[in-house]
Amino acid sequence: MSVGILYCIENIESNERRLNKMETSCLVIVLLTLGSVYCDSVFKSIPVTVKSYEHDSVLLPCYIHDTDVDIRVRWYKGETLLGDSRDPHHLLPPRTRLHANYSLEIDDLTADDTAQYTCEVIRPKPWGPIKQIHAIEVQSSPVIRTIPEDGFLEVKKGEFVDIGCEASGTPQPFVTWRKNGEPMALLEHRHRIKFKAEHRLLAGVFRCTAENGVGDPATADIRVIIHDAPVVSAVRSFVHTAVGLRAALAARVEFAAPMPRTTWYRDGRAVHTDDRIHRVVQDNVHQLIFRRVQARDLGNYTFRAENALGMADVSFKLTGVPNVASFKVDPALNRATSTGFTLIWEVDSYSNIIEYNLWLRPYYGRLATEPDSFTTQPPANLWHKIIVPGDSSDGPIHSATYTVRGLTPSTVYEAIVTSRNSFGWSKPSSILHFATEPGAGNYSPVTHDYNDYPIVLEDPKEAHNLTQAMVTYGSGSAVQPAAILISVVNFIVIGTF
Ligand SMILES: *[C@@H]1O[C@H](CO)[C@@H](O)[C@H](O)[C@H]1NC(C)=O
Ligand SMILES: *[C@@H]1O[C@H](CO)[C@@H](O)[C@H](O)[C@H]1NC(C)=O
Ligand SMILES: *[C@@H]1O[C@H](CO)[C@@H](O)[C@H](O)[C@H]1NC(C)=O
Repeated sequence: MSVGILYCIENIESNERRLNKMETSCLVIVLLTLGSVYCDSVFKSIPVTVKSYEHDSVLLPCYIHDTDVDIRVRWYKGETLLGDSRDPHHLLPPRTRLHANYSLEIDDLTADDTAQYTCEVIRPKPWGPIKQIHAIEVQSSPVIRTIPEDGFLEVKKGEFVDIGCEASGTPQPFVTWRKNGEPMALLEHRHRIKFKAEHRLLAGVFRCTAENGVGDPATADIRVIIHDAPVVSAVRSFVHTAVGLRAALAARVEFAAPMPRTTWYRDGRAVHTDDRIHRVVQDNVHQLIFRRVQARDLGNYTFRAENALGMADVSFKLTGVPNVASFKVDPALNRATSTGFTLIWEVDSYSNIIEYNLWLRPYYGRLATEPDSFTTQPPANLWHKIIVPGDSSDGPIHSATYTVRGLTPSTVYEAIVTSRNSFGWSKPSSILHFATEPGAGNYSPVTHDYNDYPIVLEDPKEAHNLTQAMVTYGSGSAVQPAAILISVVNFIVIGTF
């Protein structure tokens, strides 16, 4: 409207010398009321902004008061002349009509019809031309153009990610974002996102949604990939096998952008593959498969993934030693008496189990660590080893039952088992906690009631230091040494676990 007023004022000034009385009075009003009255005094129609939808029809008026005067009307879209009432040869654009009463009709609107439309009235001299400006806003549903246009961006770690969604539509849509399906907490409805690719986990699928209340929201995805060193893990790092069997080492490539070069190593040298030892890659799992294991295959292996940004290793052990044994917890079978307890365990081994070591000690719970908390003298909480003979079965599953005797009544014990076959010793099992029944003369060092003490398997991560047991072996113990088979010789150090 202000543009329209300007036109009116300019027009008056250029024709100042020829102004008649009526227009002079109008000019006064223009100066006092910012001009709208002047234009309105000539135009019967008022400037309009038409908000409508695609495929609608719109009629823009151009009516003036003084209908006796012979006038000529031109219509403009922006600066472009659309039609001229005196020039029938000037062809109107499609879907556009200029009516006898000078109104302009546009049918079957499209988003492109959104514009300002000016009606110019040319009157006989001495009057100059006057203009009235209308606008059409074709309400259109949002359309998105992504930055980058193909919706795919790859950057190196440390570089900047710059993505965006330019949304068009009428009215102007607002943009919201999700990353990997989660809403992003952005302060404003920004259409551009910039950040430093400091970590590969900042990568993902960024989805923008543009909404303006017209039609359905528009969405677009931008996949951002951040290049970094690979990340690998072992599906299983300790692989139990035996000569003549099929065995497979499997590494998982957790992250690989750009695609890494992958190699299997044995003692620092790339593994030579052939008919018997071959590689299989399925999705992100890389396997080294031994069709028939030979004794010389046993050992340490490394899988390495390497790209321009770094490398990652993961270690494997192909071994014939038994898997970690597991205690069976079954109250019907784990018979407890006041001085004895029956333990049951199972172990996987493709070769005979030569022997088991059952480690046992009274359980006092975890010692308090607070300096001023109430503690009794810490007990010499020592492991005692019982050698249990193996079996002659071929396996692969071996089970063993052993009844420990000579225990103290009403006492909680903890137990660990290790197994040995011709390849060596397994790693220690999880810890089993169990309690003996109350006896006739209760001489338990602990006064709790262990009548209903549950049999508990403890997390192996908490396992105890067997090395330490060896060092301090022999000082006092709550377990009756005479009653338990204790081997002082051949005390095998299992190592840390
Ligand atoms: C102008 O003409 C169009 C088309 O005939 C009509 O629809 C419209 O009502 C007319 N306007 C006036 C004010 O008569
Ligand atoms: C395999 O690796 C372990 C450490 O993980 C090491 O103690 C052992 O000596 C290695 N074995 C061989 C054959 O290199
Ligand atoms: C186990 O105990 C030994 C002997 O006290 C000690 O040298 C070793 O560091 C301990 N290991 C762990 C994992 O605590």
